[in-house]
Amino acid sequence: MDMHFKFLTAAALMAGLYGAIPAQAADTSTNELIKRGEYIAIAADCGACHRQTHEDGKPYAGGYAIDSPMGRIIASNITPSKQFGIGSYTEKQFADAVRKGVAADGRNLYPAMPYTAFHGMTDDDIHALYVYFMQGVKPVDDAAEDKTQLGFPFNIRQIMWGWNLLYRSDKPFENLKGGSVELNRGKYLVDVLGHCGTCHTPRNMMMAEENDKYLSGGPLGGWYAPNITPDKSGIGDWSGKEIVTYLKTGHVAGKAQAAGPMGEAVEHSFRYLSDDDLNAIAVWLKQVPAITTSVAEVSKEAPAQTDINRVISGQGSQSSLADSSGTDGAVLYNGACASCHGIEGQGTKDNFYPSLTSNSAVSGPTAQNLVMAVSEGLHRKGSDSDVSMPAFGQQMSNAQIAAVSSYVRSQFGHIKEPVTVDQVNTWRSGGEVPFIVRYVNYLTGGGAFIILLVLFGLLRLRKKK
Ligand code: HEC
Ligand code: HEC
Ligand code: HEC
Repeated sequence: MDMHFKFLTAAALMAGLYGAIPAQAADTSTNELIKRGEYIAIAADCGACHRQTHEDGKPYAGGYAIDSPMGRIIASNITPSKQFGIGSYTEKQFADAVRKGVAADGRNLYPAMPYTAFHGMTDDDIHALYVYFMQGVKPVDDAAEDKTQLGFPFNIRQIMWGWNLLYRSDKPFENLKGGSVELNRGKYLVDVLGHCGTCHTPRNMMMAEENDKYLSGGPLGGWYAPNITPDKSGIGDWSGKEIVTYLKTGHVAGKAQAAGPMGEAVEHSFRYLSDDDLNAIAVWLKQVPAITTSVAEVSKEAPAQTDINRVISGQGSQSSLADSSGTDGAVLYNGACASCHGIEGQGTKDNFYPSLTSNSAVSGPTAQNLVMAVSEGLHRKGSDSDVSMPAFGQQMSNAQIAAVSSYVRSQFGHIKEPVTVDQVNTWRSGGEVPFIVRYVNYLTGGGAFIILLVLFGLLRLRKKK
């Protein structure tokens, strides 16, 4: 037999063996897996954190810093680059990083990587996600732009071992018995892929989510992720359709607009979800336990009339903005905001410029989102429009931001309690520092902190028994 013939026989044999799966079909199924993996990556918003910071940065190349209360934590390069990314991760190692927060080299990841939510990801989803990252993402052979450098004791990654023992669930995702397919899909999207709780559930003093306060609102840097349970103090008066519209477009007329971290989540993730998935999220949110949280005290008396003549007699022009001594809220409002939101805060008829009279950022339990929106502005692509509001953080002093926010709260929200300069200072520099960070400095060295962790662990284990 000559070589050529041998080869042909072998080829014929192989074709006989594998004939059942023509090459093309194998390709389509891989392509379908890649597509499915990409959808999961978008729903889980992997790209929001694992991006480069500069404009037109390469997808998943890392470097973006997450300002955690413990310091800046840098998201890794998760492209399939063998040297700088996760190119040499096996599927098992990938699953462990995503679900357990343990990298291939054994490093404990910080929970800035939301593995506490992703732990419930199904094997099927992990598989599709892995195939997508290995075959559907371009390798970027560059180290992430920055490095994580936390202060002692948080720089010791091993402490996460103790934390994981306490707060990481290792149970797989469980469907609710008797729950519809839609309800369970909604639960999976909210709790696992969309990781809504990482922002909307308050955290205890060890920075873990408090399960009995599920989705009832929590601070997020200077922002506040509001109560989204179906209570009056949450989104109890939102219809399912309004929840879907908000997630898809970033706004619901007469209720709310998504700015800051929620604006980003809408732009990069939620607006791409299928209608079925968005409906499932709404169905789940409508029936989670309603939790009552504090609301701002609304005065029954109408706010003092603004003397429009005083306000528009030239003082409300840009010149008073530049003058950092001007802290008349009415003047500032009419100079800086009224051109879009209207003198009465009524907004425009088509709601392109929203009304401020029924607006969750204005009348929320805290003025944080109002203050942050004024400071940082708002730029968001939703599925229906691109919206943008200028940032005033450079132009206005914190005293002016406090003054204009107080004016907006009292005039349009009928909330008398003023916004103070101290509050604006705190929120603009990243919010209240949580217990664990504030007190760790006072403990005599990190040793005490680790002992504290172990003690907490023992307490918890005893409680469980
Ligand atoms: C909220 C931000 C955030 C989101 C969303 C996020 N990650 Fe991460 N991820 C991080 C950060 C930060 C790190 C680095 C943590 C550290 O250094 O301890 C990380 C680390 C990782 C690692 C370890 C890589 C290594 O070797 O350093 C993998 C793998 C990973 N992420 C995959 C994913 C995937 C897949 C998704 C989407 C399903 C995802 N991440 C979503 C923030 C995020
Ligand atoms: C990265 C943090 C983050 C994640 C993740 C997140 N949110 Fe939000 N969410 C926020 C913040 C902050 C606001 C306030 C935005 C504003 O007022 O400008 C908000 C606002 C909202 C609102 C409007 C509430 C109101 O009263 O104005 C709804 C509804 C909502 N989120 C639902 C969700 C759902 C559902 C998910 C998951 C599928 C989710 N969010 C994930 C941070 C987040
Ligand atoms: C150039 C027009 C423009 C100006 C000027 C402007 N805004 Fe806005 N504002 C917008 C747009 C657009 C939105 C978002 C609309 C949307 O999401 O659909 C918005 C949203 C808001 C929100 C909701 C933010 C949130 O997080 O929910 C508040 C509050 C607000 N503006 C207050 C102000 C105040 C106070 C000023 C003056 C200091 C101001 N705006 C100036 C256009 C403007």
